[in-house]
Amino acid sequence: MNPAPGAPPARPRVLSGVQPTGQLHLGNWLGAIRNWVELQQDHDTFFCVVDLHAITVPHDPARLAEDTLATAALYLACGIDPNQATVFVQSHVSAHSELCWLLNCVTPLNWLERMIQFKEKALKQGSDVSAGLLDYPVLMAADILLYDADQVPVGEDQKQHLELARDIAQQRINARFAPRDASGEPIPILKVPSPLILKEGARVMSLTDGRNKMSKSDPNEASRIALLDPPEVIVRKIKRAKTDPVMGLEFGHPERPEADNLLGLYALLSQQSREAASNECAAMGWGTFKPLLADAAVEALKPVQTRYREWRNDPASVRDVLGKGQEKAASVASDTLERVRNALGFLPSRPD
Ligand code: TYM
Repeated sequence: MNPAPGAPPARPRVLSGVQPTGQLHLGNWLGAIRNWVELQQDHDTFFCVVDLHAITVPHDPARLAEDTLATAALYLACGIDPNQATVFVQSHVSAHSELCWLLNCVTPLNWLERMIQFKEKALKQGSDVSAGLLDYPVLMAADILLYDADQVPVGEDQKQHLELARDIAQQRINARFAPRDASGEPIPILKVPSPLILKEGARVMSLTDGRNKMSKSDPNEASRIALLDPPEVIVRKIKRAKTDPVMGLEFGHPERPEADNLLGLYALLSQQSREAASNECAAMGWGTFKPLLADAAVEALKPVQTRYREWRNDPASVRDVLGKGQEKAASVASDTLERVRNALGFLPSRPD
């Protein structure tokens, strides 16, 4: 039997993913993908396009494949290096769905009913809520646990889902099913992952309401800056972004969420410390600040947009990256799945 979890990789393992729904925005970039790029140099990184998650709400089958390819191209355009990271499509590795089922059968229903995102999304959808939407965090747990991930870089909104993945691994699999070694010590089956949520960029807020997070599902497109928005659209959205009547930009004022958010975006996009940005803009009016922010956003996104066009003009190369990624991901995932199947007592299938 394969001792569990699988032998630790030489470098800490990282897994994360984004849904291929609509256009990725500044929140996805600053909260997640930008941090992936940093990690790939000294971590063993796996980044998937989570297309199975994208169908937990009604979706357009005519767009799914293209959106999946476009999202993979955006990962690469943002600086994910296919020679360093494993980039793949979730549905191309069937172990995700299989482990999800096994985890479903040990996850208490009330753990899922407590999930804030489920409650919010279910409320938005009214009567037609799928079982898949409730199950979304279990599939996410399967994504993470299949790769023995040490760290999972995500935005703040995913913290509760990460805690659930930890609880499933620890309380519902390892504590119940771990085999014992010769001295009676349990051999854990699944590695318990840690969230990696960087303070800056972890919660980018909407441009039209600084108390709500920037989101792909907001029907108002003016609430977010998509990574592929042309410069004139970025300028227009920032020009119209919600402000307040106070002069000077500052962090942390409870009555000024828009100032906090836009100043935070300015710091990140112009690659300055929060302190430097706040000093620079402390006495600035909104009319001076907004063009500055727009310039910083346009400049920061320019190289991403240029590289994106290059990858999109060469879909065969993107498919090539995804093919290699699938191969590597599937081999890691199938080992973990086998460990769980064995621990749960399934009859092994006959070797070919
Ligand atoms: P998704 O596509 O909704 O979000 C992708 C990533 O973007 C982050 N994010 C934000 N960060 C800061 N500010 C925002 N306004 C903002 N909006 C989104 C999210 O936190 C996330 O990191 N369920 C995941 C996808 C997933 C996954 C996984 C992630 C599926 N399996 C396994 C990690 C590991 C999600 O939120 O996707």
